[in-house]
Amino acid sequence: MLHLFQSLDRFLVDNQSLWRFEPFFTSRTNTLPWLADNTSLCTWLESLSPEQIEHLKLDNDALVETISDYLPQITQIATWTNLPTLKTRGLQLSRGVDSGVPGRKLQQIVSMGEAALNLHHGSEWLEWCSGKGFLGRILASQSGQAVTSFEYQQALCESGQHEADKQGLTMKFVQGDAFSPDSIDAFNSNQHAVALHACGDLHVSLIHYGSQKQLPALTFSPCCYHLIRAETYQPMSDAAKRSSLALNKSELRIPLQETVTGGERVKRHRIEEMTFRLGFDLLLKEAKGVEQYQPIPSIKKSQLSEGFAAFCHWASEQKGIELPEVDYAEYEEKGRQRYWQMERMSLVQQPFRRALELWLVLDKALYLEQCGYKVKLSQFCSRETTPRNILVHATKR
Ligand SMILES: C[S@@+](CC[C@H](N)C(=O)[O-])C[C@H]1O[C@@H](n2cnc3c(N)ncnc32)[C@H](O)[C@@H]1O
Repeated sequence: MLHLFQSLDRFLVDNQSLWRFEPFFTSRTNTLPWLADNTSLCTWLESLSPEQIEHLKLDNDALVETISDYLPQITQIATWTNLPTLKTRGLQLSRGVDSGVPGRKLQQIVSMGEAALNLHHGSEWLEWCSGKGFLGRILASQSGQAVTSFEYQQALCESGQHEADKQGLTMKFVQGDAFSPDSIDAFNSNQHAVALHACGDLHVSLIHYGSQKQLPALTFSPCCYHLIRAETYQPMSDAAKRSSLALNKSELRIPLQETVTGGERVKRHRIEEMTFRLGFDLLLKEAKGVEQYQPIPSIKKSQLSEGFAAFCHWASEQKGIELPEVDYAEYEEKGRQRYWQMERMSLVQQPFRRALELWLVLDKALYLEQCGYKVKLSQFCSRETTPRNILVHATKR
């Protein structure tokens, strides 16, 4: 794992210019940033039609195959990031256990629950940042062992406890703040700790407390790496502390920038909204001399149908900026061109997303190894079920 981390780290450092940028901002200038170093890559990117860009965004394998003509090193990424997929048979759920669980969530918790049950060590469970305790319900009902569900939101604790009691499950909800030092009291050395989609620092606190209390096992799937309290990423393992990558919050978001798969309408809305935002930014820059990007609040989708000029008037009101007389159609078109330029740039970054995610996950895995755990990484479900499908499983040596 250390060797893998070091190779990945060197690769990410050596290829920083290909992933370390924000396409939204970099597309402010019309030239692709790799023009001087890799003209053929840029010529190819410029030749892509919107349809081809859309296709490559959705098909990462096709993208890697084509882009590797210009960036051969990219083929290396798959050899590192193809984690084994856990074999699951599907659990036979007792009646009512899935009550109130949304469809896609159910698939995730069933897969994660089965993985945790198959790899179980300990005589009880701790469900960290449990929400309503959907995963805990499965663990309690399948194993017959007690589950402590730790959650910040009182309302979720109450609703989770109510449902667990109704189903006669041995679950106890504990309301608490994962960042408070007292929350270590929720841990004990008989527990196998689990966490489905614990964001940023929440999975970090799980690792800290779990390893301090030397829990027999921890099984978790990390997500939202950018939700951290510090300004930059705080490496945990010695190897990551030695790395020269100092990741800021916007870089920590890169692994989460998955392609929108919400159907045609969602896709159309995203294109329209981004076109408006990019066009408005250009309008402010060119017609008003505003160099600094002005963040615009989120808008209701229904507002888009009022058109670009209405959007500009609304956005300028929000920012208290007076707009000059301009040709709105011209700036809308510029916004559209810039949108596709942004998408072209994103194609170069796309294959690095999983590599960066693996770097972040390996940091935690190496830290757990340092703390005396044996760690396995795998995928607990398909990427279609959830793109945040990496499972870290650590057992005390
Ligand atoms: C992404 S959700 C995951 C919930 C659940 N594991 C699931 O997958 O359905 C993260 C959960 O962490 C909880 N949370 C956020 N901040 C917390 C904190 N400081 N301490 C404890 N729980 C927290 C949220 O209320 C939320 O229920």
